[in-house]
Amino acid sequence: MKLIQLINLVLAFVLLMGQERSFASFTPVDNYLIACGSSRNVTFQGRTFVPDSGHSSLILKSGNSQVATSNSTAPSPIYQSARIFTGISSFEFDIEREGRHWIRLYFFPIRSSGQNLASASMSVVTDDFVLLNNFTFKNYSGSYMFKEYAINVTKDVLTLTFIPSNNSVAFINAIEVVSIPDWVLPDQAMAVNPSSPFSGLSDLALETVYRLNMGGPLITSQNDTLGRTWENDEKYLHVNSSAVKVSVSPSSIKYLTAVTPETAPNWVYATAETMGDPNVANGNFNITWVFQVDPDFMYFVRVHFCDILSKSLNSLVFNLYINDDSALGSFDMSSITGDLDVPLYKDFVSNSSEGSDTLTVSVGPDTMADLTNATMNGLEIMKISNEIGSLDGLLSVKSLNPSSSSKHSKIGVIVGCSVGAVAALALIGFCYCCVACRKSKTVNQGHPWLPLPLYGNSQTMTKMSTTSQKSATASCISSSNLGRLFVFQEILDATNKFDESLLLGVGGFGRVYKGTLEDGTKVAVKRGNPRSEQGLAEFRTEIEMLSKLRHRHLVSLIGYCDERSEMILVYEYMANGPLRSHLYGTDLPPLSWKQRLEICIGAARGLHYLHTGAAQSIIHRDVKTTNILLDENFVAKVADFGLSKTGPSLDQTHVSTAVKGSFGYLDPEYFRRQQLTEKSDVYSFGVVLMEVLCTRPALNPVLPREQVNIAEWAMTWQKKGMLDQIMDQNLVGKVNPASLKKFGETAEKCLAEHGVDRPSMGDVLWNLEYALQLEETSSALMEPEDNSTNHIPGIPLTPIEPFDNSVSMIDRNSVTDDDAEDAATSAVFSQLVNPRGR
Ligand SMILES: *[C@@H]1O[C@H](CO)[C@@H](O)[C@H](O)[C@H]1NC(C)=O
Ligand SMILES: *[C@@H]1O[C@H](CO)[C@@H](O)[C@H](O)[C@H]1NC(C)=O
Ligand SMILES: *[C@@H]1O[C@H](CO)[C@@H](O)[C@H](O)[C@H]1NC(C)=O
Ligand SMILES: *[C@@H]1O[C@H](CO)[C@@H](O)[C@H](O)[C@H]1NC(C)=O
Ligand SMILES: *[C@@H]1O[C@H](CO)[C@@H](O)[C@H](O)[C@H]1NC(C)=O
Ligand SMILES: *[C@@H]1O[C@H](CO)[C@@H](O)[C@H](O)[C@H]1NC(C)=O
Ligand SMILES: *[C@@H]1O[C@H](CO)[C@@H](O)[C@H](O)[C@H]1NC(C)=O
Ligand SMILES: *[C@@H]1O[C@H](CO)[C@@H](O)[C@H](O)[C@H]1NC(C)=O
Ligand SMILES: *[C@@H]1O[C@H](CO)[C@@H](O)[C@H](O)[C@H]1NC(C)=O
Ligand SMILES: *[C@@H]1O[C@H](CO)[C@@H](O)[C@H](O)[C@H]1NC(C)=O
Ligand SMILES: *[C@@H]1O[C@H](CO)[C@@H](O)[C@H](O)[C@H]1NC(C)=O
Ligand SMILES: *[C@@H]1O[C@H](CO)[C@@H](O)[C@H](O)[C@H]1NC(C)=O
Repeated sequence: MKLIQLINLVLAFVLLMGQERSFASFTPVDNYLIACGSSRNVTFQGRTFVPDSGHSSLILKSGNSQVATSNSTAPSPIYQSARIFTGISSFEFDIEREGRHWIRLYFFPIRSSGQNLASASMSVVTDDFVLLNNFTFKNYSGSYMFKEYAINVTKDVLTLTFIPSNNSVAFINAIEVVSIPDWVLPDQAMAVNPSSPFSGLSDLALETVYRLNMGGPLITSQNDTLGRTWENDEKYLHVNSSAVKVSVSPSSIKYLTAVTPETAPNWVYATAETMGDPNVANGNFNITWVFQVDPDFMYFVRVHFCDILSKSLNSLVFNLYINDDSALGSFDMSSITGDLDVPLYKDFVSNSSEGSDTLTVSVGPDTMADLTNATMNGLEIMKISNEIGSLDGLLSVKSLNPSSSSKHSKIGVIVGCSVGAVAALALIGFCYCCVACRKSKTVNQGHPWLPLPLYGNSQTMTKMSTTSQKSATASCISSSNLGRLFVFQEILDATNKFDESLLLGVGGFGRVYKGTLEDGTKVAVKRGNPRSEQGLAEFRTEIEMLSKLRHRHLVSLIGYCDERSEMILVYEYMANGPLRSHLYGTDLPPLSWKQRLEICIGAARGLHYLHTGAAQSIIHRDVKTTNILLDENFVAKVADFGLSKTGPSLDQTHVSTAVKGSFGYLDPEYFRRQQLTEKSDVYSFGVVLMEVLCTRPALNPVLPREQVNIAEWAMTWQKKGMLDQIMDQNLVGKVNPASLKKFGETAEKCLAEHGVDRPSMGDVLWNLEYALQLEETSSALMEPEDNSTNHIPGIPLTPIEPFDNSVSMIDRNSVTDDDAEDAATSAVFSQLVNPRGR
């Protein structure tokens, strides 16, 4: 009871503050206006830009920069000078108040300088976001470019880095870095299709693409307290005559509610477009504005309204559509504002309209209303950064600027010393409630991986979940190498024009062919079915992800081809195909027990690397015997990261997600609770172990009920200690019982009902190594010569010693890479005990 009262008190306080702010005019705490390359102050639209050389808070890192000036051709004074960089260069701005900041960039390729800036090609990045990627002025002939971004700066320094493309230069004419009041841009907005709240905007970067003053003149930065520019809407109207302007005096606009002049100046609210006469029969139509957008991004759409045309309350009722989807139905402004001439706005998140590069916004009359009319006063459309933190293209800051090191933010500014301890406590409670509330409201932003099975696709299933998930930032494994880009002709040559005799498999994604590159390298070529643009985006993301994973026990991506709307992935060729085909269903010779152990160990190593090798763990989600491939030396490699997901970050215990995977291998806990952890892979791996031992499919519906599911069936025998009763007949009498026992116990632990009871992949690896040691010891004792035919060339022979499982001599979690790791493990094993020495 007490706590609730306190929270109410704090809420009232916060609301009061909120009202107060609308009367105080806003002065930005951080306010950098820089005229680059200039030698004097430049006044532009009423504001003074100071030269970059000699600015105190600014550090020009690059020693290699030039200055260019010209006053003949530049469109306005701000574009008369530029700084030109021949190498990667940065500006660093000290940030006094964390939160959203405008970053405004002014570009004009000055002609009179020695450099041809019009052909310059460059990228611009902040610490966390890509603003421009490989941008060139070629398409902007003779014109200038102005870009505006709203970035939430959460550190005390903002670095703005200019990266010239190969053999080019980068340049910039002017930069603004200016604080935005916290209340102007929200964390949450309504997604339109499907209609659901979208949160997490505060962690994303925004780029202004359109900002319109409906029915009004151009408003420049001097008439906007936040320095924004609002342009007239006319050129975006779908049908010019559909709209007619109305306007009132700006002074009649009443800022009563949470809307302030910082939301939009009264000039915006004082003009509007309303329904004109487009010459339609029944007088019932929409006013539609059409905007070109990049379909690979989502957009934040803010619509400004103010009823300046009604004579009485509740008479104007209309609908708002975004891309033909209803965004506001039967919208009556006065029911919210309680008065006329009171501004309000609504926020939405939307994609481009399906399958096109346009986004449309329409208003139209509501059939139930007295008055057939509709209105809009202002519109802002901002591009939202994608999952790799880019506003332009599919490359991350890391891959564009490998030298960028993420500096740690200073601990948040400590506020409110005069507030009593009780109030502080209440505030914490309040914040906690907000956070908890926000967490529970998060919306699915995850980008499910496209399933790309390498060798066919057995019963992969999807069950959509209702739980949602916060977008995981792209994994941070550092590498900018995207693999080789193949031209289509090379692929045609390699696969003999996709000769069907070279077909290795067919799956959901497409067909897989064996190929031979010009240099004789054998490859597996996976050719995607023709797909939508969306599929293309996922294909690209897939390439980025896969090319970052390099491990001896993971199948590696050699390159890709995206010519002529083809989606082709080129993998290393695995001569012996999937593990499954060596277990059952083919005439291939049975694998020996030692081979099986070594294959399981290899696969476990690959999975262990996925779980622990990268900064953020990766969960495979589709571990099965068809996704473990064998090379010519029977070295096992894990394939098909089609369903992989980055795992929970440190402060989370799981990732909630749609259930994906294959029947028979699916972790029952994951299926029930839709909470994904690394332990789901461990369960699937347990099924693989049983399959390897019993050489039968994970699910075999033909068998009697109790035998259908290998996990259940093998577990009943394992619990009786009689696993040997159901194991592969080819192995009977050829397996060291101690090794088999260890193997059975390991599989049993993997198949534990609850994730917490299952071992980590590192422990599984350790136990399988142990089972192999037990097997090798026994065979070593029987055959002292150690000329076992089972030895597989290419796999380093691990020493033949049993060891104490409890002795932990290497840090199992610090595994980084394969060969070094294999060697280290071997070394430790040999140091443990020398068998013959004892
Ligand atoms: C340039 O502007 C700054 C800030 O407005 C001012 O302090 C400085 O004196 C000006 N310099 C010149 C040369 O006018
Ligand atoms: C044009 O720029 C030159 C220096 O580049 C300067 O000397 C000259 O006064 C400028 N002219 C005008 C009209 O600003
Ligand atoms: C950058 O753009 C140029 C042409 O404008 C193109 O030739 C080049 O391949 C692009 N580079 C990248 C990395 O996209
Ligand atoms: C730039 O111009 C080239 C050639 O006209 C065109 O292919 C390309 O799509 C244009 N790029 C942009 C971003 O408009
Ligand atoms: C830039 O040059 C490097 C090394 O010369 C090369 O590897 C890279 O492919 C080039 N990038 C582009 C976009 O041309
Ligand atoms: C900026 O990001 C921080 C950390 O995510 C968040 O707490 C804060 O509310 C954000 N600010 C704005 C204005 O979105
Ligand atoms: C902008 O501001 C200037 C001066 O402050 C004023 O003269 C002008 O009328 C304003 N224009 C608009 C469109 O608001
Ligand atoms: C509509 O208005 C815009 C801007 O005034 C103009 O460029 C365009 O040609 C007009 N379209 C028609 C069909 O009149
Ligand atoms: C909508 O209202 C405006 C302003 O009152 C008026 O000019 C316009 O004709 C109206 N449109 C219709 C279709 O009634
Ligand atoms: C307005 O547009 C929406 C969405 O496209 C459509 O459903 C509706 O029928 C349109 N209204 C009129 C009157 O044309
Ligand atoms: C945009 O499209 C993507 C991919 O289809 C989807 O995941 C996302 O939810 C959509 N966002 C909105 C706001 O409709
Ligand atoms: C292993 O060595 C023994 C003794 O040298 C020999 O008799 C046997 O044939 C060898 N086995 C194989 C498979 O080479």
